[in-house]
Amino acid sequence: MRIQKLIFPMAISAAGLVVSGNAMAETWKMALGDAAGGTQYELGTTFAELIEQKTNGEITVDLFPNGQLGSEQDTINNASMGLLDLSVLAINNITPFSPTVGVMTLPYVIQSPEDARTLTQGETGQELAENTIRDAGVRILGWAYSGCRRLTNSAKPVAEPADLEGLVIRVPKNEIMIAAYQSWGVNPNPLAWSETFTALQQGVVDGQDNPYITIDAMKFYEVQDYVTESCYVFSMEPLIIGEGKFQSLSPELQATVLEAGQEATEHSYEFLLESEEAIKQRLVEEHGMEITQPANDEQEWIDLATGIWPQFYDSIGGKEKLDEVLAALGREPAPAE
Ligand code: MLT
Repeated sequence: MRIQKLIFPMAISAAGLVVSGNAMAETWKMALGDAAGGTQYELGTTFAELIEQKTNGEITVDLFPNGQLGSEQDTINNASMGLLDLSVLAINNITPFSPTVGVMTLPYVIQSPEDARTLTQGETGQELAENTIRDAGVRILGWAYSGCRRLTNSAKPVAEPADLEGLVIRVPKNEIMIAAYQSWGVNPNPLAWSETFTALQQGVVDGQDNPYITIDAMKFYEVQDYVTESCYVFSMEPLIIGEGKFQSLSPELQATVLEAGQEATEHSYEFLLESEEAIKQRLVEEHGMEITQPANDEQEWIDLATGIWPQFYDSIGGKEKLDEVLAALGREPAPAE
């Protein structure tokens, strides 16, 4: 496994084949949207180590963190066209290519690591993974669990939706997340993840939302002072492989790749549970971020944002699909329209 700080295309032939002590070993490229150090990196490095071990070095993986291989949405196209082997990216950046996964970014549906695991490891997760192969030409091999998305900004404490007035907030290019902010009374600015740090630094936008682990890995504390401990979306980040690439592997290697993905997923879950609280403390104590609790247990945020659910029933496969997910999480069905 190698981590690429810069892209050195000359080190790998066009076919990704390098001559090593192991006759002809194959090197796969993995894109990471985030910087090294977060949950994407943890999932990616764990998968890379496992695949190297399980194939006795026949397959190695080079990781390209920090959006070096393009925006997260670009990496889906590239993997589906066979130009890239693997990518770890946020689920919200798959939704535009495979709308049924939008059920995972509907506000206030997934509320905890346990919910995220139940959903991704159960029947719904399996069905959404199959839809992603059909719609986007990529196969989900594993999941990074990153935590609740927390709103950050550079201007002021935000406790209630009215406090957003005057702030320009960056959101992913995801219709559901855009609509959530509109329900809170502001028009957010949809921007690719790879452009977000610079936009925050240059003051093009005032804020964004992402989990504590991502805020830390991306060093957003350098350009953001205030955090609202909200949880409108729980961030999950699949590891994908181009379906063409997957189908080109022998059945034995396909099984090995799936097994490595599953083991890396289990590691990612433990990593979140073990590290999130310490990272939150560090953001406050070492980097001086100020955390604000959402007013009234977040009720106004919840009431407004869950009001957008019906707008997305068609794209996620009907209200029944949301009700199925809510039932799997032990919750009541969505209110009748
Ligand atoms: C985004 O905000 O676009 C993504 O959730 C960021 C990420 O991939 O960590």
